Amino acid sequence: MSIKRITVAGAGTMGNGIAQVFAQSGFDVTMLDVKEEFLQHGVETIRKNLARMARKDKIKESEIDIISNRIKTTTKASEASDCDFLIEAIFEDFKAKADIFKEFDSLCDSDVIFASNTSSISITSLAAETSRPERFIGMHFMNPVPVMKLVEVIRGLSTADETVKAVTSLSEKLSKIPLEARDYPGFVANRVLMPMINEACFCLMEGVAEKEAIDGVMKLGMAHPMGPLALADLIGLDICLNILRVLQSGFGDPKYRPCPLLVKKVEAGHLGRKTGRGFYTYD
Ligand code: CAA
Repeated sequence: MSIKRITVAGAGTMGNGIAQVFAQSGFDVTMLDVKEEFLQHGVETIRKNLARMARKDKIKESEIDIISNRIKTTTKASEASDCDFLIEAIFEDFKAKADIFKEFDSLCDSDVIFASNTSSISITSLAAETSRPERFIGMHFMNPVPVMKLVEVIRGLSTADETVKAVTSLSEKLSKIPLEARDYPGFVANRVLMPMINEACFCLMEGVAEKEAIDGVMKLGMAHPMGPLALADLIGLDICLNILRVLQSGFGDPKYRPCPLLVKKVEAGHLGRKTGRGFYTYD
């Protein structure tokens, strides 16, 4: 089946980024969320990002409207089910994700591929909630989606080779680079990234260095575009904590124990950029 119409469930940071890159590559997109205001915010973010790209001559000014007009929005799954490909990018909660997939499973044609952008939930167990585990896959974009080249393609236990092939080709059409990983906790991206972020939190908690110095070491010494604490703020401290807990329980290995300072920040509601305060403060 040729894939032309995409449904993106979730209009948040990842969802609107995913909708944007599909629309930029000429796909018709329907973005679904539970509230009209979430959709509106998603669309505004996309237009802002496109305007920034136009200012930097990456797209033409006239393309802002053309690309935006490829994105429709709805709060009803029934208005988003006439699609060739579904990607879910809502918050990291198994039941909420499973509910969406179950609903679309009953609405969509049986040959439609379902993908989850989950950063840490098992693809195999989400797939098992549907009647199409062979057409179920992980398609993990990185934040900010329009900028980062990687798509981590996660093969669940029952994912068919044709599904992997279709999603690999789809990722390439978005000018992304797909890299395949198996369905183990944290896949590759977060299994490698989160221990680094966690260790940076321990360095801060133990007073090994100030936050600017910790980030500076990784930027100046390892050529990372941003330091681990600033990156944690970008990702969201609650998300980092949640992924560390998935790694800890998935492997039963204490090396993934979350740093108490990270836990405390999440308890305080200092979740990073999205709340204006994390390791750093933001306007
Ligand atoms: N949309 C479109 N373009 C954007 C953008 C957006 N949302 N955000 C930034 N850009 C573009 C800018 O226009 C700019 O383009 P040029 O180089 O052509 O000028 C470029 O990206 C760099 O942006 P800035 O100059 O504004 O800022 P910067 O140089 O500090 O870069 C950054 C910002 C791209 C975020 C960079 O710091 C970076 O790459 N950081 C690391 C991000 C990262 O590691 N992401 C992965 C997180 S892990 C994850 O997502 C997985 C998970 O499951 C948790």
